[in-house]
Amino acid sequence: MSDVSHPPRTAAVIPAAGRGVRLGPGAPKALRTLNGTPMLVHAVRAMAASRAVTLVVVVAPADETQGVKALLADLALPDRTDIAVVPGGDTRQESVRLGLEAIPEGIDIVLVHDAARPLVPVDTVDSVIEAVRDGAVAVVPALPLADTVKEVEPAPSGGPEPVVATPERARLRAVQTPQGFDRATLVNAHATMAVAGGDGATDCAGMVERLGAPVVVVPGHEEAFKVTRPLDLVLAEAVLARRRANDGF
Ligand code: CTP
Ligand code: MG
Repeated sequence: MSDVSHPPRTAAVIPAAGRGVRLGPGAPKALRTLNGTPMLVHAVRAMAASRAVTLVVVVAPADETQGVKALLADLALPDRTDIAVVPGGDTRQESVRLGLEAIPEGIDIVLVHDAARPLVPVDTVDSVIEAVRDGAVAVVPALPLADTVKEVEPAPSGGPEPVVATPERARLRAVQTPQGFDRATLVNAHATMAVAGGDGATDCAGMVERLGAPVVVVPGHEEAFKVTRPLDLVLAEAVLARRRANDGF
């Protein structure tokens, strides 16, 4: 994966170009604040907290790129961490691809981390990187499910939906980010999907699976949940308040 002349170098791509439709009207989701700080700033800090991460590429809403650059220019990050901002695309998959194109030579491992998961602990980030360093080409943090899951035949009008199957819950995992990849494998997956015409992947690891490459799961963390709906903002602010209280002791 890496040559012997240097340890594998790691970059993090943060797709942050979504509108946040499910969160309701307002600024693009990544720029919404949690206890006064934009979600994107929390997410950048979470990636930069890992000593392995030397570059963070933020994929911003195309019409907010300058504002995001200004926001992040003021951020105090560790000396080891460079930051770049590029405009995003119409889908998460396209935004990730645009972020990958901004990564220079010399990076061997790429993390892809949703701006919408601002509170992921550094231990989770490090365990994903470690698994890639140990030889996995694609690593996904994930948690067992609390709810039983049913596959249905979706009904168009909100009417009753016939159940098709009930997968065994113990074998299911809810996947989070950062997902970690051997750089060449992820670039290849994106190139292959672009040729195949697919553009709807909500999860990079799924694209690697379709290439036929092995994907492995490591333990995720409950604080790496995705801010999707308004209630998630309440939970995220409560987690931050708890951290602040704990730091005080
Ligand atoms: N994302 C992106 N570019 C897009 C769409 C999504 O970079 N065109 C990013 C989002 O900013 C987010 C991550 O992908 O950090 C996960 O997507 P999701 O949680 O679905 O965010 P949104 O697409 O913004 O939300 P919604 O689907 O409710 O509109
Ligand atoms: Mg979305």
